[in-house]
Amino acid sequence: MKKTLAIVFALILTVCCIASCGSKKDDAADEKEKLYMCTNATFPPYEYYDGEDIVGIDAEIAQKIADKLDMELVIEDMEFNSIISYVNSHDNAFGMAGMTVTPDRQESVDFTTSYAKGIQSVIVAEDSDIKTLDDLSGKKIGVQLTTTGDIYASDEFGSDYVVQYNKATDCVLGLKNGDVDAVIIDNAPAQVFVEENDGLKLLDTDYADEDYAIAVKKGDTELLNKLDKAITELIEDGTVQQIVDKYIPSK
Ligand code: ARG
Repeated sequence: MKKTLAIVFALILTVCCIASCGSKKDDAADEKEKLYMCTNATFPPYEYYDGEDIVGIDAEIAQKIADKLDMELVIEDMEFNSIISYVNSHDNAFGMAGMTVTPDRQESVDFTTSYAKGIQSVIVAEDSDIKTLDDLSGKKIGVQLTTTGDIYASDEFGSDYVVQYNKATDCVLGLKNGDVDAVIIDNAPAQVFVEENDGLKLLDTDYADEDYAIAVKKGDTELLNKLDKAITELIEDGTVQQIVDKYIPSK
């Protein structure tokens, strides 16, 4: 009797197993190919956390791109400094992080058409004696590691005076704690940080004009062309502008 029961059990188990495997396979057939957006979500309004979710201009544009390509968007949050190497070592991955096109980066990744402009800005404490860019010399400047702000600050004021943080948000903490005297960072996040933190202000000087674009693995023309076509369509039909306006309402 026991034996029969055991056999019946085993049979039921096998049938269940086969059934569930089968349904998994069906799911797989419906599953869309994944498209990985590599970003650093410390950069509002382009990418930041809202609870558990990564939201922002880049996240929304990326979702529209994935929809167009009929792929499933997966957002991978990593250090800004790791995005380029990640993109170069993974398939179906692109970097989208308010990333500025620079000649140096163009040597290691390919960029799509630019979808937004950035300007470098300087954040200081409200009562700071720093009034102009020249006043920055000899001061401690906080930047996000390997961003263009880091490159400018190090080139212009010397790396001894530059404090590199992994997260853009930590630059601001450093400024509030008095560990640095100023932060050089892109204008859009700078505005958000000044709004969200008491006692900070923006200097009235713009630093450098930049173009943001999507980075893909060097030489992956297939992915580059797909993304480029999608982003170009989204620029031309006004979708990109709509998304930007939603996050950066013009005053
Ligand atoms: N635009 C600057 C750069 O390309 C800063 C980008 C930082 N982005 C970020 N998601 N933290 O270097």
